[in-house]
Amino acid sequence: MGYIKSAALEETGYVVLDRYNQELDPQEWKDIEYVDWKSSGETQFAPLASAKGEIEVNGFWNHKPPRTDKDGVWIPSQVEKAPNLVRRAQEPGANVGRCRVIELQPNTYADCLYNLHQDDNNRLNPDGTGWVVRGFFNLTDDKDSFFVLRDNRTDPSVEYRIALPAGAQLIIDTQRLWHAATHLGTDPRYCLITSWESGPELDAYIEKHNGVSRVPNVEVPQDVLDAGQAEQTRRIAARAAYYAAKGKAEATAMSEA
Ligand SMILES: [Fe+2]
Repeated sequence: MGYIKSAALEETGYVVLDRYNQELDPQEWKDIEYVDWKSSGETQFAPLASAKGEIEVNGFWNHKPPRTDKDGVWIPSQVEKAPNLVRRAQEPGANVGRCRVIELQPNTYADCLYNLHQDDNNRLNPDGTGWVVRGFFNLTDDKDSFFVLRDNRTDPSVEYRIALPAGAQLIIDTQRLWHAATHLGTDPRYCLITSWESGPELDAYIEKHNGVSRVPNVEVPQDVLDAGQAEQTRRIAARAAYYAAKGKAEATAMSEA
């Protein structure tokens, strides 16, 4: 049968919506409660909706009973502190799974390439229902930072680099595209991330906010791109060597036991 997906995301796997006027809203992300959760860099997360309405950010499939990333339960103490963020997450009217604010410490383009990953948004998602994608609303004004999206983790030939000023709004099929943020600067970056179910509601929202499936790439000097790619290659190889040696050590220990 297959999943219901957005035609707007078919070409590249992402859309950029009109920029939101972030300056008009209070900085609610400073008031909500964060928990330590390492994901693609030095990060913390503040959940607004979670599997059971508790302040934790684990995948819904890790709860009992395990379930897919839909029907998130809003957390009253967080909702009270961040009504505008909740309003924005609910605006499409699409089913919301996880909804949280990420805090990301500054990093480099090379870090970002190493951090590239795909999400597991659709684990346990029933066939024939809406494919889960993610909204990214940048909250802080990270003028020099950008999202990096690739079809393939280690292949730079398809790389989208999308600017992250305050109010930038992206919807990304993060299970399809490898993704991470390059966050240059000195202060942490904050971004609202919402899991939405694809369907007519999300399509209408994308259309209303003039979603486009291509924007000009943020320009990065070629030497920085090349150095980042080389560093990604080096780190992936170092990690593989580490685990190979560890596996071998474990195997030796087991054979000696
Ligand atoms: Fe992700």
